[in-house]
Amino acid sequence: MKSVLLSRFFILLPWILIVIIMLDVDTRRPAPPLTPRPYFSPYAVGRGGARLPLRRGGPDSGPGRGWERRNESRPHARPRPEPPLPTIYAITPTYSRPVQKAELTRLANTFRQVAQLHWILVEDAAARSELVSRFLARAGLPCTHLHVPTPRRYKRPGLPRATEQRNAGLAWLRQRHQHQRAQPGVLFFADDDNTYSLELFQEMRTTRKVSVWPVGLVGGRRYERPLVENGKVVGWYTGWRADRPFAIDMAGFAVSLQVILSNPKAVFKRRGSQPGMQESDFLKQITTVEELEPKANNCTKVLVWHTRTEKVNLANEPKYRLDTVKIEV
Ligand code: UGA
Ligand code: MN
Repeated sequence: MKSVLLSRFFILLPWILIVIIMLDVDTRRPAPPLTPRPYFSPYAVGRGGARLPLRRGGPDSGPGRGWERRNESRPHARPRPEPPLPTIYAITPTYSRPVQKAELTRLANTFRQVAQLHWILVEDAAARSELVSRFLARAGLPCTHLHVPTPRRYKRPGLPRATEQRNAGLAWLRQRHQHQRAQPGVLFFADDDNTYSLELFQEMRTTRKVSVWPVGLVGGRRYERPLVENGKVVGWYTGWRADRPFAIDMAGFAVSLQVILSNPKAVFKRRGSQPGMQESDFLKQITTVEELEPKANNCTKVLVWHTRTEKVNLANEPKYRLDTVKIEV
């Protein structure tokens, strides 16, 4: 009898040991997170950064701020209310063409990662299109959807583009802030085909009046940039029309909301305007070269690229025997 019990005990012993070891290991290991952790940008330090809130909300609701505060070294210091993060208003003119949705998708994927950004998308069209409306409804971004058609006489090669659309964005911005004291904000003209680094938004967010930085792949060069001496813009590195008062692309500057509101007549003009001169014509109305605030390490870093998407080849699109389903591209 005794030997039977003993042999049973020895058979069970390894199993008992395994169970004990497993229980011990499990309680030591921290539980894996149930939800994927939000991804923090390498640039998301301090305020004004292009934080990457997975859950959007007010300026304080991003994961960055609360996290920073809880990790302060003085645990008992009373949290001082931080001033609100300036809103970045991005005005994007856009027009219908085969690559439109692809361009807007890339842009939204970037903007979605920037805290406190309001997208003002202005269609060059007589009405809001279904494609863009549907797209914005699913984009998960604070946005305003406007439209204004470019008059036919201005739709010619060699004439400036998107004048009316940028002005519609400016008008909306001025109207929205008409009655209230201006909240801190920064305006930026974001064409739909360029490429924007997240660091760019961190740089522009601290714009006091008008800030500038280099633009890559523009003007027939690898980049154009403002030349800076002792923290001031003193000239322009450019290979194209160096006589421009502000030899800078639309993607190379940002303007504070305050400046936009205190210069209510500053707009893009059709009359007498040539391509490449729109930026100068606009900036002349609101600032001087001496006043410009250089960003991106004294204008030595390229954080935005004037990429242009090649025209798509649709030579094999069928004229008859079309696909049996209608697919939006
Ligand atoms: C350059 C500048 O980077 C632009 O900021 C400037 O508006 C343009 O020249 C100009 O000539 O006016 P580029 O790449 O040649 O840019 O111009 P696009 O990217 O074709 O157009 C600029 C923006 O206007 C884009 O967001 C585009 O979607 C929009 N656009 C263009 C319209 O809304 N309607 C059009 O008929 C053409
Ligand atoms: Mn472009």
